[in-house]
Amino acid sequence: MITLALSKGRIFDETMPLLAAAGITVLEDPEKSRKLILPTNQPDVRVVMVRASDVPTYVQHGGADMGVCGKDTLIEHSAEWGGSARSGLYQPLDLRIAQCRVSVAVRAGFDYAQAVKKGSRLKVATKYTAIAREFFASKGVHVDLIKLYGSMELAPLTGMADAIVDLVSTGNTLKANHLVEVERIMDISSHLVVNQAALKLKMAPLRRIIDSFASAIPAQV
Ligand code: ATP
Ligand code: PRP
Ligand code: MG
Repeated sequence: MITLALSKGRIFDETMPLLAAAGITVLEDPEKSRKLILPTNQPDVRVVMVRASDVPTYVQHGGADMGVCGKDTLIEHSAEWGGSARSGLYQPLDLRIAQCRVSVAVRAGFDYAQAVKKGSRLKVATKYTAIAREFFASKGVHVDLIKLYGSMELAPLTGMADAIVDLVSTGNTLKANHLVEVERIMDISSHLVVNQAALKLKMAPLRRIIDSFASAIPAQV
């Protein structure tokens, strides 16, 4: 049995064409079904539905043989494990799906450049504490990080933070909340992650899926 961990929404939707290239069709819609284990047309392949941030955990601990998740999630997960080497996660492919970026944003009117220049201590709200810590440290900017789990945009609007570090794609969410992107930290896409022990034990079927995914990765634009 091969178990693939996915999260609902964009990761599930954008992984479907890649699975199709491997001849795999998921037989139930996770948006309609309450089931957490979804069968596929191949009796020895199943999909487990987990929170996006839990995908690396499932693959690391063998709850799934492989999974798909954002590079953002992988960086934060590996920081918890003191670097990816100990996590037992093999990352063979950048799938180039769910593309976005991690950026710094502030309230329109907040002079970020001036605050940085003055050496002010910045209050930064984010779900991405490892990425934010590393980024501001590399710039020599002192920050107080405030950990949030969602709706980061609210933090500057309520006066709780000066800035946020969050994902941006179209920029519509920032615009709707009167925030402006002031720095781009890194580009993000989703990756295939594989449990290293499973790769050894189930070499042939996992390789076949990895190779099919590789052949179906969307072209670079
Ligand atoms: P949860 O709801 O469990 O907190 P999440 O919000 O991280 O999870 P998704 O919104 O499905 O879950 O995001 C999954 C991944 O997709 C992210 O880790 C990121 O890599 C990417 N992503 C998130 N937002 C966007 C977006 N607006 N456009 C493109 N890719 C995105
Ligand atoms: C994500 C992310 C941003 C938004 C950016 O939210 O957390 O808020 O997308 O995309 P944009 O620049 O195109 O507006 P998502 O849609 O995943 O909603 P969520 O808050 O439920 O995670
Ligand atoms: Mg989201």
